[in-house]
Amino acid sequence: MNKADVGIKNVLFSREQLTQRISEMGREITELYASSPNKLLIITLLKGGVVFTSDLIRHIDLECRVEFIKASSYAGTESTGTVNIYLPRELDSLEGYDVLISEDIADTGLTLSELEKKLLERKPESLRTAVLLNKPSRRRSPFNPDMVGFEIPDLFVVGFGLDYCEKYRNLPYIAEMSEEYINKE
Ligand code: PRP
Repeated sequence: MNKADVGIKNVLFSREQLTQRISEMGREITELYASSPNKLLIITLLKGGVVFTSDLIRHIDLECRVEFIKASSYAGTESTGTVNIYLPRELDSLEGYDVLISEDIADTGLTLSELEKKLLERKPESLRTAVLLNKPSRRRSPFNPDMVGFEIPDLFVVGFGLDYCEKYRNLPYIAEMSEEYINKE
């Protein structure tokens, strides 16, 4: 009972599907910013966004800076509704930067709308958000990502950076969790 996929119900997106879509997103981003006179800054949220972003940046054929920010709002499968975001001092001013937030999932939208608000206060030249997964049916805050890898229904998904109680981030695919394993720790 110590395999990485214990508790997984079914795979929604395979490693191959993810690779294909992320490379398309990288190409779109490259085209979008290719003629911009500004510097490109990609901001990712720890911890979930790391796996997607590390793949995505390798498909962006532009000079860019990458920053990792700590944010956290979930306890088990539910958003606590309180989003804690810690912006480092070196991001006090974003003048001269096109900022692209790269994130694993927009669920209630609370995390990304709070992050966008904080970043806009720092006056970037532009601000966009790319998410691998979008779950629009669960919004508690009006939020629309500029780029979406896949739209998903209201399922609790794990893998490829997404966790349940800190597990499953290392799965190379996105999967639905089996209900019988949720809240049965
Ligand atoms: C998850 C995920 C997003 C956020 C999305 O992070 O990585 O950042 O929730 O949910 P929302 O749209 O409902 O706000 P979490 O707070 O679980 O932290 P983690 O990335 O460290 O797992």
